[in-house]
Amino acid sequence: MNNLNYLTGATEVSYHCWLQYTKIEDEALVEHYQRYCQSLLVLGKSTIIESAVSELQKGLHSYLGSKPSIATQEINSAAIILGTADKVNNPIVNNELIDKLNDDGYIIKSVNENDRNILYLVGKSDIGVLYAAFHLLRLMASRKMVDNLSIIENPRNQFRMINQWDNMDGSIERGYSGQSIFYTDNQFSGDWERIKDYARLLSSVGINAISINNVNVFKVETNLITEQFLPDVAKTADIFRAYGIKTFLSINYASPIEVGKLETADPLNPEVEKWWQQKTKEIYSYIPDFGGFVVKADSEHRPGPFSYNRNHADGANVLAKALQPFGGVVIWRCFVYNCLQDWRDRSIDRAKAAYDNFKPLDGKFLDNVILQIKNGPMDFQVREPVSPLFGAMSETNQLIEFQVAQEYTGQQIDLCYLVPQWKEVLDFDTYAKGKQSEVKNIVDGSLFNFKYSGIAAVSNIGNDTNWTGNTLAQANLYGYGRLIWNPELSAEEIAEEWVEATFGHKQHVKEIILNMLMQSWPIYENYTAPLGVGWMINPGHHYGPNIDGYEYSVWGTYHFADHDGIGVDRTIATGTGYTGQYFRENADYYESLETCPDELLLFFHHVPYTYRLHSGKTVIQHIYDTHFEGVEQVKQLREMFTRLEKDLDKAIYANVLDRLERQLANAKEWRDKINTYFYRKSGINDEKNRMIY
Ligand code: GCU
Repeated sequence: MNNLNYLTGATEVSYHCWLQYTKIEDEALVEHYQRYCQSLLVLGKSTIIESAVSELQKGLHSYLGSKPSIATQEINSAAIILGTADKVNNPIVNNELIDKLNDDGYIIKSVNENDRNILYLVGKSDIGVLYAAFHLLRLMASRKMVDNLSIIENPRNQFRMINQWDNMDGSIERGYSGQSIFYTDNQFSGDWERIKDYARLLSSVGINAISINNVNVFKVETNLITEQFLPDVAKTADIFRAYGIKTFLSINYASPIEVGKLETADPLNPEVEKWWQQKTKEIYSYIPDFGGFVVKADSEHRPGPFSYNRNHADGANVLAKALQPFGGVVIWRCFVYNCLQDWRDRSIDRAKAAYDNFKPLDGKFLDNVILQIKNGPMDFQVREPVSPLFGAMSETNQLIEFQVAQEYTGQQIDLCYLVPQWKEVLDFDTYAKGKQSEVKNIVDGSLFNFKYSGIAAVSNIGNDTNWTGNTLAQANLYGYGRLIWNPELSAEEIAEEWVEATFGHKQHVKEIILNMLMQSWPIYENYTAPLGVGWMINPGHHYGPNIDGYEYSVWGTYHFADHDGIGVDRTIATGTGYTGQYFRENADYYESLETCPDELLLFFHHVPYTYRLHSGKTVIQHIYDTHFEGVEQVKQLREMFTRLEKDLDKAIYANVLDRLERQLANAKEWRDKINTYFYRKSGINDEKNRMIY
């Protein structure tokens, strides 16, 4: 067990995630750090700076065994000097350097002045100081030397957001790690210490915005914007503010009716407009830096402007107008489709819905509206193409939405490190303005000069002691923050940082966990829905195989498999025309069987089972092989992990092993159901004559 007495209420190492600050055993290294860390000279005063100081004190105490003293004036010992650029009166932090920083950026510099070692942690603003403190602690987690540091860091994305899908009864929509830390029994839980620890975790990886309730806003949550709950929302916001995180609320579009007792929520009705303005003013009287509203409208039975024959721009703009005087924004989700569509009707294609609904409205939104677009056109599947809306709306602010919660990717039972998937999405070239129009250049705002932009994701945490159900799923939360701070980091670098901060430095522990993480997404893909076809998962709860399982009625499947073939024809030539929503280069690429990549073949094309992939295998043989292989790979994951029994904390070991056992059972069920189904449907034998036992 580590030295963890600085945190309240925690009994398990896993509670501290990557902020364990494990005691450093190497004496030479301790001495090296102590050469810089005897005291902290704090320049300036603010709650965020206080957070930085308290984090440094905790961290250094835990790493080095002694707490640094705090100085507010001159110092004569080795020190860390921290403060904002305007307060640090030293040529080392010159204007040229400061000009390189954006609002959240920072500098870390180690120097020797008059025979004293000094480490400067300098932010353009307070939050940069806190980020610099976390950076230094991260370097120590990786046991890096701090001599000659000259670091300039700027986050690439402006919004770095987390969406909680927590309901006030304590449940979490698509939550796989216990109940909400925010709510219980239709009240705030009052567990402010835990919320503070969550704020620390988020801030340590650069998250700067959070929406604290589910996008599906039901009856009780509708009242979050009323005096019944606003004092507690304000308390929550106070905690997050101290870590540089802005608080947002998901709202119910029908609030003017449900809360305001108006007869309509028509966005063009002057009474409705007035109501939102007053309501917004009231919210800001509680939370002066409130971030704004997240809105899911006209989707999956949620109310929205369509009920009044208005479009999404009308819908969003009335809110934007109300928020504008306070500097707030509307985050309007593009996950809009007709969930009751009949999939037997081939003229409708859910994949086309977001683009069809929003593209014609480009330029019609006020400039404090940001569209939040899921990474793919469907719904966080293990494999889908990138949404064609990215780049298609040059006049409208955009955020990309990922899902850290593993709804369709194993529900934090199965191991699935998602950073490689997100990276592929961010690196995807849309060709919106010719080459180098990657998604990452759109959502960082640079390609189209968006006023607001960035990245949001559905959180994967709950009140389980280890936050994420499966301890290894912590890597996804960590990785999400690190990747959106700097999309140029590799998935492996990020995983390595996380492994070191979480499991320490034994070479074989590092290698094994890293290996497990890096293989996990392809493994999960191997034993689940093949070649981009999606779903085949149990409707409702979305875990485990159900090949024909279809969410909204007994009619239809997501895969259109019959005796002859499988896949969805989304071509312009013979299918739904979805490929036409991409810019030319990508449209051609996906339209043609010649170029369409194997892993997305069945998303774009309906082909016979005997169709030969670029890999040389037929589709049916690929299905058989990957499903047999997937199970073997999970066995290997489990086997690798058991080699770590002696090295890991007991609770973590037991937790992960239990999940791997369950993953293996799940993988076998997928293998058996998928292979049997397609064997029966196609009547084609496995070339290797394998049997299922
Ligand atoms: C998926 C998910 C829902 C969620 C929805 C959304 O459909 O299953 O639980 O509400 O996405 O993103 O709004």
